[in-house]
Amino acid sequence: MRVGVLTGGGDCPGLNAVIRAIVRKGVQEYGYDFTGFRDGWRGPLDGDTVRLDIPAVRGILPRGGTILGSSRTNPLKQEDGIRRIKENLAKQEVDALITIGGEDTLGVAARLSDEYGVPCVGVPKTIDNDLSATDYTFGFDTAVGIATEAIDRLHTTAESHMRVLVVEVMGRHAGWIAIHSGLAGGANVILIPEQRFDVEKVCGWVTSRFKASYAPIVVVAEGAMPQDGDMVLKDESLDSFGHVRLSGVGEWLAKEIEKRTGKEARTTVLGHVQRGGTPSAFDRWLATRFGLHAIEAVRDGDFGKMVALRGTDIVRVPIAEATARLKTVDPALYEEVGVFFG
Ligand code: F6P
Repeated sequence: MRVGVLTGGGDCPGLNAVIRAIVRKGVQEYGYDFTGFRDGWRGPLDGDTVRLDIPAVRGILPRGGTILGSSRTNPLKQEDGIRRIKENLAKQEVDALITIGGEDTLGVAARLSDEYGVPCVGVPKTIDNDLSATDYTFGFDTAVGIATEAIDRLHTTAESHMRVLVVEVMGRHAGWIAIHSGLAGGANVILIPEQRFDVEKVCGWVTSRFKASYAPIVVVAEGAMPQDGDMVLKDESLDSFGHVRLSGVGEWLAKEIEKRTGKEARTTVLGHVQRGGTPSAFDRWLATRFGLHAIEAVRDGDFGKMVALRGTDIVRVPIAEATARLKTVDPALYEEVGVFFG
């Protein structure tokens, strides 16, 4: 048995921990061989492979990024993409493919598995934590930790100058990073993509914070939108899955706050700092368990499935089900944290 492994989409801390667990269990317990595919779906499309054995995965548990590389290549956008993938898998004598990715990478895996008979098992990753069917994706806990530390640091400098600090965090469709780090870091305003925001209301919260003699911290997810306007973008180009490159709302909001309240407002965009570096202990734990269960699913021939966290158990769910809709922040949860606004 030879198993292919790929990591697709935006990287996140914990990818290497998954790869290591898959290979360690696959070799030690099942006697499998492995082929790594480079840069997400580009690897099987171009037949670009990398050696994947126990020596190759030594020492990678605490390392961020991915030893396999990643990309946002969409094989379904290429006319002969499916044929090329099938041919290259056959050429490499790969019997099953473990795809580690978010909604886009796994969306392709679901179609390849369900419609074209390519035996795939999925592992959910994204710092955004927006994949349904799993309580958490790995990478999210690390990103929240980084964002919370940044907010803690920004409090002291905001207080020294009595200015507004707007912190833009990642979160394309879902405000999980914003709401978790904002709550943990004691932000005075948290804005998420799920709920359009009223700039006047934001300014009201900012002003009331100053009245209490504290400087406000506004956490805004990159995908958050004002009530009466469109998404604020600096760059409108699309990737091969049709997504725009986000970032810009933080800067825009700081200008609006400054204009409407007369208070100085600055922006910090955390960007890829949230995705880089070593994974948290929780993410190493979750990623490792996902890897162990993914190779077990391969052994069982349970294809078209994704491993998922439910409570403290790892279960298998259809990949198609997990990618059918995104897991977003419930309005009731947003309302719950609203007690700290202002
Ligand atoms: O999907 C995860 C994510 O980090 C989003 O939060 C963000 O919008 C996007 O990836 C950025 O992707 P990239 O760095 O690949 O442009």
